[in-house]
Amino acid sequence: MGTLADGQILVERRGAVQVIRMNRPEKKNALTSAMYAAIAAALQSGDADPQIAAHVFFGVPGAFSAGNDLTDFMAVATGGEGSPEVWDFLLTLVRCEKPMLSGVDGIAVGIGTTLNLHCDLTFATPRTVFRTPFVDLGLVPEAASSLLLPMVLGRQQAFAMLGLGEGLTAEKARAAGMIYDVVPEDALEAAVLAAADAVAAKPRGALKATRDLLRAPREAVAERVGQENEIFRRRLKSDEARAALTAFTNRKK
Ligand code: COA
Repeated sequence: MGTLADGQILVERRGAVQVIRMNRPEKKNALTSAMYAAIAAALQSGDADPQIAAHVFFGVPGAFSAGNDLTDFMAVATGGEGSPEVWDFLLTLVRCEKPMLSGVDGIAVGIGTTLNLHCDLTFATPRTVFRTPFVDLGLVPEAASSLLLPMVLGRQQAFAMLGLGEGLTAEKARAAGMIYDVVPEDALEAAVLAAADAVAAKPRGALKATRDLLRAPREAVAERVGQENEIFRRRLKSDEARAALTAFTNRKK
């Protein structure tokens, strides 16, 4: 097992499956720049490794991810530079050549939800709620979710999530086709790993060609990531974002 970003990302190779685990439980798996960089590096090295046939994302019990670390956002909002690691991670996700699966339990906020839109099979537990409260933070959608979520949910349900910040339960996400299945917490990892093994056992060339046909055109998705990113960076410096981030920071006191 490899550990990256000071053990906050754990990478394990299980046969032909690479497991990438977000492991920062004390912060509900909020993602820092170093964690994004570690995930991107793992995806790139797994993609380049002929022994690897699929990538799997896990979080920790109760927290897939609480989204981007808001302390990092606050640093940008108050004059810092944006981090190139996030941009690099998002493009790596879009361009990933091998099937990606995810197992989501509990908290799935921001990128903790939108990452799954790039996965080929997502399993979640009944207690999982997917949330994308970008607008409440004075921000806009990221990870091409403004393109991919309406494709999956239709524009109105996507607006409810991306515009109003409404949560979507795992069961509703499954019924809508946003995720593949809902399984009990104690069965989650086994279910995802069994699916990953099934994926890895398929003829690779045919599966890759099929996956490429099924996915929204990669360049359109990458272009949307870029468009969102430009607006996102401007919004981070807005009074609305500063106020929301300050409220989160002060909430602790
Ligand atoms: N960035 C930085 N720190 C975060 C975080 C984030 N996105 N999400 C959670 N944390 C931290 C909390 O500040 C807290 O730290 P502390 O113990 O040092 O005070 C710790 O993680 C535990 O979080 P807590 O809020 O106590 O857990 P909870 O179960 O009550 O609530 C959430 C979990 C996810 C609902 C809540 O933390 C939250 O709303 N986080 C922000 C989510 C968000 O807006 N993400 C960005 C999307 S773009």
